Amino acid sequence: MGTPADHLHAWLRDAHAMEEQAITMLTSQSGRLENYPELKAQIEKHLQETRDQVAMLDRCLERTGGGASGIKDITGKIVAFGQGLSGLFVNDEVVKGSLASFTFEQMEIASYKILIAAADHAGDEETKRVCETILQQELAMAQWLDEHAAEITRTFLERDQQGKTAKH
Ligand SMILES: [Fe+2]
Repeated sequence: MGTPADHLHAWLRDAHAMEEQAITMLTSQSGRLENYPELKAQIEKHLQETRDQVAMLDRCLERTGGGASGIKDITGKIVAFGQGLSGLFVNDEVVKGSLASFTFEQMEIASYKILIAAADHAGDEETKRVCETILQQELAMAQWLDEHAAEITRTFLERDQQGKTAKH
């Protein structure tokens, strides 16, 4: 059992670990992309947003008590999940990477909806506002990936057929 504030704090820590993993995944993807300039630019844009999100979550954690210490306990699980989705340097990595990013964004969207409800319940207006701001960025990234999945797939297939480097 815990108070609503305790749960809110724990879930903020989970979100912090999740975004740290997102930074790792996005950095790896953008660093490897060469033939998909639009995707690379979008990932770099979201990478900067994600770094800002971590800073915003840091401030929420400080405000809700306990600071950023003790974050490690959930990090391992999130890292394992993220690595399961990315780190697939296979011959269709751009396609697998897009799939992984879209899946990860859906987890982020669900997480911030939970946090918004928890912050609302705990009466923490500032955390609620921060999570609503972050949620909009996650929704925008998910929508971009959704709208470009077909085009990325077509480009991959065409380049592969032409004997050009297609995977990244
Ligand atoms: Fe995101």
